[in-house]
Amino acid sequence: MPEYYHVIDGTSGSNGFANGNFNQKNGTSNGTSERNTDGHPNGASWFLPGSSEESYDLICVGFGPASLAIAIALHERRANARVLFIERQPKFAWHSGMLLPGSRMQISFIKDLATLRNPRSEFTFINYLHQKGRLVAFTNLGTFLPLREEYNDYMSWCASHFEDYVKYGQECVSVSPTETSGKTVKSWEVVSKSIETGELLKLSAKHVVIAVGGKPRIPDVFPQNPLNERVIHSSRYSTAVPSLLNDKDRAYKIAVVGGGQSAAEIFNDIHSRYPNSKTSLIIKGSALRPSDDSPFVNEIFDPERVDTLYTLPTDIRRESIIQDRATNYGVVRLELIERLYDTIYHQRLQNPDESTWQHHIVPLQEVVGCEENKLGEIHLKLRNTRSGSVETTIGYDAIIVATGYVRNVHETLLKSAKCLMKNSICAVGRDYRVEFSEGAVADDTGIWLQGCCESTHGLSDTLLSILSVRGGEIVDSIFGKEPPSRVESKSKHASVIEKSVRKYADAMVKDILNGMGINGKVMEVV
Ligand SMILES: Cc1cc2nc3c(=O)[nH]c(=O)nc-3n(C[C@H](O)[C@H](O)[C@H](O)COP(=O)(O)OP(=O)(O)OC[C@H]3O[C@@H](n4cnc5c(N)ncnc54)[C@H](O)[C@@H]3O)c2cc1C
Ligand SMILES: NC(=O)c1ccc[n+]([C@@H]2O[C@H](COP(=O)([O-])OP(=O)(O)OC[C@H]3O[C@@H](n4cnc5c(N)ncnc54)[C@H](OP(=O)(O)O)[C@@H]3O)[C@@H](O)[C@H]2O)c1
Repeated sequence: MPEYYHVIDGTSGSNGFANGNFNQKNGTSNGTSERNTDGHPNGASWFLPGSSEESYDLICVGFGPASLAIAIALHERRANARVLFIERQPKFAWHSGMLLPGSRMQISFIKDLATLRNPRSEFTFINYLHQKGRLVAFTNLGTFLPLREEYNDYMSWCASHFEDYVKYGQECVSVSPTETSGKTVKSWEVVSKSIETGELLKLSAKHVVIAVGGKPRIPDVFPQNPLNERVIHSSRYSTAVPSLLNDKDRAYKIAVVGGGQSAAEIFNDIHSRYPNSKTSLIIKGSALRPSDDSPFVNEIFDPERVDTLYTLPTDIRRESIIQDRATNYGVVRLELIERLYDTIYHQRLQNPDESTWQHHIVPLQEVVGCEENKLGEIHLKLRNTRSGSVETTIGYDAIIVATGYVRNVHETLLKSAKCLMKNSICAVGRDYRVEFSEGAVADDTGIWLQGCCESTHGLSDTLLSILSVRGGEIVDSIFGKEPPSRVESKSKHASVIEKSVRKYADAMVKDILNGMGINGKVMEVV
């Protein structure tokens, strides 16, 4: 195995990470790493530069939070590895179409990209606040749930340390074995397309992580490929809506479809963005339901729960995930539900006649059709989920489809590797490594999946909850658990200690024998 880890001295922390000698005085890392003008260590300084001629040790496809957590874990191991991240966006951005004013995180900042794995990391949210001069002010807020805007800034700050190792504006189109015709695969070809020029870039890597997140789920009832420009998926809401609906005083008619957090946040946001708008929130259920984030239930997002879940029989695991769905899917944070109820109540206060209200929640309706009229307005066909009756709505100026995400992009990217998988099924081990048929792929190479393993690894898989720990697990799986340099230095220490003990024991035996007056003779016999 090549030596990936930077040789370190005995000053590293007992936790096995490089930051053991965290400098408490200035709140930054140990004095050994270089710093940029911002006072931050030049995070990625241990990585090696790569090139298109040489094979990379690791290419991560997608540079979202999951890959960023891997970058941090790898950096903290001081890995001397040729690493590259390929990202299609022009810069780091976390669900930028949903960065709505006032929207908050759904998990505690303690579950940031480092803390649960290494609380002394320089990439903790707390160190970010400290570096930005807001640690005390943030504490005064008395919250564990930062604004999404601030968390995006935190992750962008983390990402900025790895700039030299990211190719932005590149969309990966395939990950294929470099060897074909039955030979054991020893590396992978990663092909990406420049978003700006369309030019193809071909790189090779021993290890590939695919962490591309979700793809908008747009039910078949909506026009597909291309989507009508007035039908917008929630993931593009705040970037697409301002140019489509560009008169903020107009009484736009807007429908939002879905009963999850995205739909509720957008429905709430439209009110302030377009004060004269008329909006309908179309939900399948009888009412908006709160997400269950009570403490006992929340334990399903503990890092160690992945072990328990992964080892369950498939049908029991599936049932367990379904039972816990209300922690995450098709549900809304209680505070937001209460805010929306307030809005509706205020309308009732002003006029009890519901038909005059600007904003409506339309329960028990599934969208089963979508048509545009000659004026460019869009009518929806709604089927009552209880009675089955179908009705056509008024014409809307825009439809926001907040119907969630699918996580199957890896299937497309890995099309040409399918023949190497057992029964062509993309299964992963507990360490997220794709399982190939016996002998098809060399042991020191492979593919790892992130964010698309919910059915085997549980509901935390698509979330931020365990990214820090998972980043470390991926690094362990790819580069080995214990840095070889450290193993080596440990064994060096061990042999020095062993030698001194032996010397000391020899001297003692000699002294005893001398005292007995039999000199070295018996020693020779012994
Ligand atoms: C609006 C919103 C808010 C959320 N808030 C929370 C929250 O508060 N807490 C929580 O735990 N979870 C939250 N989630 C869940 C979310 O999945 C995680 O927060 C997180 O984004 C997962 O990180 P990821 O890296 O797996 O995926 P992503 O964040 O989706 O990142 C994937 C990256 O890969 C890139 N990419 C995709 N395809 C390609 C390709 N072919 N080539 C190159 N690059 C590609 C994308 O541009 C993206 O940057 C939220 C989700 C949404 C939609
Ligand atoms: N601030 C934040 O932190 C924040 C903000 C937004 C999103 N998120 C996260 O992002 C993830 C996805 O959330 P999401 O709200 O985008 O998706 P989601 O939770 O999957 O919700 C999709 C909704 O669309 C409904 N739906 C699907 N097809 C429909 C149809 N034809 N007619 C009517 N309704 C239909 C679904 O109903 P059924 O379930 O009944 O099919 C469901 O209510 C979650 O993890 C969430 O926590 C976080």
